[in-house]
Amino acid sequence: PSPTDFQAEDAVISQGVVESNHAGFTGTGFVNYDNLVGSHVEFTVNAASAGPATLTLRFANGTTAGRPMDITVNGAQAADELAFDPTGAWTTWTTRTLTVQLNAGANTIRATATTAGGGPNLDRISL
Ligand code: GCU
Ligand code: CA
Ligand code: CA
Repeated sequence: PSPTDFQAEDAVISQGVVESNHAGFTGTGFVNYDNLVGSHVEFTVNAASAGPATLTLRFANGTTAGRPMDITVNGAQAADELAFDPTGAWTTWTTRTLTVQLNAGANTIRATATTAGGGPNLDRISL
């Protein structure tokens, strides 16, 4: 099946704000993580069946430093300090993909900043 998009601006945000001042996002905006450790965005997604799924995160990082994030699925770590490297500009968006294990039914996917820079600007996830 083709992936479904889940917009970051519609997710549950802890220590971040929805903005739309950098072009190229999808939906109605993106999340600007507060620039600190622990800021996060949590999505609830439904899966028809348990098993592996390809998770894609679309982001921009207009700085010259990485903005790593931990990715958890249902509270378990799926990626430790996954790199979200500089994209060259806040208007240059790219994707990062990983495989995650989902349960049948509802799943929570959380992306948490692990450095003082906070997360990148996050547009959406797809899976
Ligand atoms: C700038 C930019 C924000 C970004 C922030 C950051 O303020 O406009 O979109 O989130 O830098 O460094 O995190
Ligand atoms: Ca920010
Ligand atoms: Ca978006």
